[in-house]
Amino acid sequence: MQSRSLVLASLVACAQALDTVQYGAFLATATYSVANQLGFFTENGLNVVYNQVPNSTAAFASILNGQYDILTATVDNALNYRFNQNQNVTVIGQLDQGPDLVLASIPSITSIDQLKGKPIIVDSPLSGYAYLLQDVLATHGLTLANNDYYFMTVGGTPQRFSALVHEALPNGTAVYATILTYPFTVEGQALAPGQAPNILARISDVVAPVTSSAFTIRQSSLSNKAENALLTRFMASMYAANKFLLNPKFKPCSIQALVKQLGVSEAVAAQEYASATNLLSGEVSPPLNDFSVSSKGIMNDVNIRKQFGGFSVPATFDFAAALVPGVGKLIDYSVKNAAIAQYKKHPLTGNCTLSCKLRR
Ligand SMILES: *[C@@H]1O[C@H](CO)[C@@H](O)[C@H](O)[C@H]1NC(C)=O
Ligand SMILES: *[C@@H]1O[C@H](CO)[C@@H](O)[C@H](O)[C@H]1NC(C)=O
Ligand SMILES: *[C@@H]1O[C@H](CO)[C@@H](O)[C@H](O)[C@H]1NC(C)=O
Ligand SMILES: *[C@@H]1O[C@H](CO)[C@@H](O)[C@H](O)[C@H]1NC(C)=O
Repeated sequence: MQSRSLVLASLVACAQALDTVQYGAFLATATYSVANQLGFFTENGLNVVYNQVPNSTAAFASILNGQYDILTATVDNALNYRFNQNQNVTVIGQLDQGPDLVLASIPSITSIDQLKGKPIIVDSPLSGYAYLLQDVLATHGLTLANNDYYFMTVGGTPQRFSALVHEALPNGTAVYATILTYPFTVEGQALAPGQAPNILARISDVVAPVTSSAFTIRQSSLSNKAENALLTRFMASMYAANKFLLNPKFKPCSIQALVKQLGVSEAVAAQEYASATNLLSGEVSPPLNDFSVSSKGIMNDVNIRKQFGGFSVPATFDFAAALVPGVGKLIDYSVKNAAIAQYKKHPLTGNCTLSCKLRR
């Protein structure tokens, strides 16, 4: 991943001692890209090491065993780990609302009906994205329960995008469709005609909003003073970067950050920017864009998982109560609130020139 060498380059460029944050992610979100490329982490004394997670199982093992300080993963995973598996994972903020989520297929498949009898590749058949897929396919009468299609476990979106474009898995198995996210939805559309995947449906046309990427930690980090302080600085940098990203005044600079981070053309980066700042499905947390979890968005996640039998809690389980933020709860805003207070005291500005310097 190029982000790692860029972090190293920024480390070399800065004489000050930086504190290391081990960050696990499925993909370089636009907010992370802005923070990384425009110096929002180094400005706050942080060396953020980007760890590319291979799949949600490995990612949650790494957050729970202390290998990562923080993870961004779709919040449905946290619902599953906390409520089904009694694992103490804590969500400290919402990053996006289902970033450009689409059901995408190989070029020869042009409608959802043609997926009948086919495998659909996923990260995990028990993940939030798989439940969203079930919801979308059901709009065309295709259900997993009737064996109208089946899931094949492949891994995170980078692997699935590559498999979709090649129309095959590395072992040669044919691939037909999957769910794509930012930045792959746009990258796919930028491929040559005949090579570009088809978008069969937008998830936001079927259900919206859905809370998706969320900042996730292990609960024990909250009572560890040093870890808590480190997470607060990380969140202050991400908060500053997200404000920067969503400010139209800084659009050209944000697009440059995406060009550098994603290694795409300026034209593609401009489309990625539009996708990441989309008010419904982008890296937003309305109305304040302060990383608050949308209660409607997370309840949609709960209801879809529930609809397809994805919870093992008793039928009487009170999700509304379980989703109220607080100490020891699934959602805890203490770090986020401290980060915003820190930002208000010491605003981080970022540096557009820096991103150009980092690239040799
Ligand atoms: C997840 O990734 C790990 C590490 O690469 C791998 O060992 C494991 O088999 C993967 N699990 C799934 C369910 O794909
Ligand atoms: C989760 O945290 C609670 C309260 O601190 C504790 O009692 C419980 O043992 C923890 N569960 C796990 C699986 O670590
Ligand atoms: C190829 O990999 C997929 C996903 O792991 C698996 O379901 C399939 O059985 C494999 N096919 C062969 C021929 O090994
Ligand atoms: C931005 O970065 C450039 C290149 O490293 C540096 O010369 C300049 O002083 C920085 N500006 C600010 C405001 O930090």
